[in-house]
Amino acid sequence: MATRNVRTQCPTNQNRTRILDTYSPSISANTFSFADWSREIAKQTEDALAELLTASSVRPQRLHDAMRYATLGGGKRVRAMLVYGAGQLVGADPSRLRVIASSVEMLHAYSLVHDDLPCMDDDVLRRGKPTCHVEFDEATAMLAGDALQARALEILAEYTVCDYPKQQLELIHLFSHAIGSRGMCGGQAIDLANTGKAIDQTELEYMHILKTGALIRASVLMGAMAGSELSPVMRDKLDHYAKCIGLAFQVVDDVLDEAAPTETLGKTAGKDKEAGKTTYISLLGINRARNFAQELIDDAIASLDAAVQAGHTSTTAGEPLKALARYIVERSY
Ligand code: IPE
Ligand code: IPE
Ligand code: MG
Ligand code: MG
Ligand code: MG
Repeated sequence: MATRNVRTQCPTNQNRTRILDTYSPSISANTFSFADWSREIAKQTEDALAELLTASSVRPQRLHDAMRYATLGGGKRVRAMLVYGAGQLVGADPSRLRVIASSVEMLHAYSLVHDDLPCMDDDVLRRGKPTCHVEFDEATAMLAGDALQARALEILAEYTVCDYPKQQLELIHLFSHAIGSRGMCGGQAIDLANTGKAIDQTELEYMHILKTGALIRASVLMGAMAGSELSPVMRDKLDHYAKCIGLAFQVVDDVLDEAAPTETLGKTAGKDKEAGKTTYISLLGINRARNFAQELIDDAIASLDAAVQAGHTSTTAGEPLKALARYIVERSY
């Protein structure tokens, strides 16, 4: 199977919950229910986050309160599900996946808090609630983001998540790289620099791969690193899966910004156009953008099948990641 040229530069809540609960992609194995599986992972992740985040009663209370506000009680938990999906593929211990999934979700929550600040996208609604800086204040939101990032890294050093310390250091290295200036933060900087400018598809793809793709890619690889050592072929195939879904995720985010209503999204619709951002919609139109995302997902699933084959893993072990890939392109928020 030919591989797509995806670049490798970087290693109201109730309503929305209902949509995820009833979502059921067409998967062949009758035994696997994505709706049940995803609900279970979301619940476990919520519980783990509630435990791993410092209690609101601890000083400075307002900061801890803001961190919990931004992280708990919302979000699709797609990155946590990717950690579990990849980990389950290689038989990783669930207690390790719990910590890794919490770490990536804390990091993601921080990225959203900062993304919404007036100096960035200036958004007032997130996950169906006022954004962190609206609910608290700008300085508290900035610090809550900083401290969430620190806590995300801290728990990866605090708990055993790999077989050997060397492997765990590699995991922390991979994660740090993915969220830094050559990963997510770099992508966000490019996004800001490009706002109001006409950019071509190559530049847009570069930006999306960094700002959103890098963390999604890291989530898959970190989940897989919690198991026993991966063969080079399996790692490669899984990595390609991760890169494809990472780019597809942001393509669909761009589509939904234009095509879905605010009450479904839980964030203000139509912001990209209003802010003068180049998106896959502004470059290709909705239909071609959706087709592009679907092509990426098809490519991801083919690569996942190859990973399953290379790992001599049972096909059912690949069902969660397959269903997640489909969910990423078919989701409504
Ligand atoms: C939104 O991510 C920000 C992007 C990187 C596109 P999600 O769509 O995963 O947001 P939540 O976690 O479900 O709120
Ligand atoms: C955000 O991209 C990417 C991040 C790293 C947070 P967007 O700015 O498109 O995300 P939304 O649409 O506000 O969720
Ligand atoms: Mg943004
Ligand atoms: Mg934004
Ligand atoms: Mg967006």
